[in-house]
Amino acid sequence: ATQTQSSVTAMGQHHFLIISLPLQGHINPALQFAKRLIRTGAHVTFAVSVSAHRRMPKGPTLPGLTLVPFSDGYDDGIKLEDHAQHYLSEIKRCGSETLRRITAISSDQGRPVTCLVHTMLLAWAAELARSLQLPSALLWIQSATVFIIFHHYFDGYGDVVGNCSNEGSDPIELPGLPMLLSSRDIPSFFLSSNIYASWIPAFQEDMEALRQETNPKVLVNTFDALEAEALRAVDKVKLIGIGPLVPSAFLDANDPSDSSFGGDIFQDPSNCIDWLNSKPKSSVVYVSFGTLCVLSKQQMEEIAHALLHSGRPFLWVIRSASENGEVEEEKLSCRKELEEKGMIVVWCPQLDVLSHPSLGCFITHCGWNSTLECLASGVPVVAFPQWTDQGTNGKLIEDVWKTGVRVTANEEGIVEGEEIKRCLEVVMGGGERGEELRRNAGKWKDLAREAVKDGGSSDCNLKAFLDELGQGSM
Ligand code: UDX
Repeated sequence: ATQTQSSVTAMGQHHFLIISLPLQGHINPALQFAKRLIRTGAHVTFAVSVSAHRRMPKGPTLPGLTLVPFSDGYDDGIKLEDHAQHYLSEIKRCGSETLRRITAISSDQGRPVTCLVHTMLLAWAAELARSLQLPSALLWIQSATVFIIFHHYFDGYGDVVGNCSNEGSDPIELPGLPMLLSSRDIPSFFLSSNIYASWIPAFQEDMEALRQETNPKVLVNTFDALEAEALRAVDKVKLIGIGPLVPSAFLDANDPSDSSFGGDIFQDPSNCIDWLNSKPKSSVVYVSFGTLCVLSKQQMEEIAHALLHSGRPFLWVIRSASENGEVEEEKLSCRKELEEKGMIVVWCPQLDVLSHPSLGCFITHCGWNSTLECLASGVPVVAFPQWTDQGTNGKLIEDVWKTGVRVTANEEGIVEGEEIKRCLEVVMGGGERGEELRRNAGKWKDLAREAVKDGGSSDCNLKAFLDELGQGSM
């Protein structure tokens, strides 16, 4: 980041301006990061798109947090995954103007912005910070491992990663990573079958923006013990583990300080907690594929088959998402039978569900937030990755942290019901492997909590970052 004249305000307070893409998987960690900053005495202005802001619950906000809606050119909302390229250029155009205005107003009000933090795919925000002579930092909301894969890809390893992009090709080794990677383990953007190639230039811009810094630093939503090797894998960029960015009330039941304000942009009409209360300890299978994936009808039927034949109670989040005119909710032929044996909801308070004693296993798409949330709650998983970083997260879950079992798809790319049922039995059954998975899940739960405690690695890393910022040396 550039040298700044004054890195803290006249009152000695940091004032961060945070901007995130309006996706649930980005807003959640960015908002939790804002809360961590506020706990250190900083003020945070959080810029969120008009459409996401409209859908966030209106209630008391947090002292120290100012939420500012801004137009990203799509005030009625957007299906980002379908219009990525156009969207990313629109948010750059509209967002630059708004951020400039916010920084000017803050200065006029005597509380100048002292640091700009942006989530991934918004490299223009770093450019803007440079032009305003403000320090800036990238908040990487995926794993350090995925950051390293992108870093290497744009720094001499494009061919190596490219060579592994075909199914059946030999696994590759990338410097600093603790495991070999095969095609199903690399971010889907690099696969030869990738239909999201239009996202790659935005990742490249993230990496290039870092190259322009004299002392590049990235704040990563992970913690030292979880990804020790990846955090140290490159010298050119300093990766700083400051996670897991989940509410501290979730990590420590005695700390209700930040349960007052959340960033859900989806509705939560159902009360699944009463239902969970009625189930035996560690008996329930929770199924969710996050906020972006839309499953095919065939895949949904296979999941339904597995759940119905597992003999276990289940809570399944089926969003009212659609693709090619087909609504996910309407893709099940056996919905009535499913609702007799389990519960189907369109959205749930996932953190409350994961920390509920009746939960036994999470069938997850391995989005990074869900991955961290189940690590921090000690829940073992059936890893069922779909796209983007999820295959890499699935690899870490199965082979590095050993907290879950990953499903294998058939030749048509469908994971059959029997395969899902087999994985569920391994994770929840009485065998040795299941016991080991549950033991490891418990271990990571403790380590995740340790990291964010006072004096824990993430706490210390954040404080060191703030000190450096305060000394004007970023
Ligand atoms: C996206 C990408 O898909 C993911 O791979 C990437 O790592 C982050 O961005 P998403 O698909 O939304 O994320 O998944 P995830 O990262 O798991 O985030 C979903 C968030 O929504 C989690 O914080 C989860 O707790 C929350 N959620 C999900 C709910 O609160 N309730 C639900 O019913 C479902």
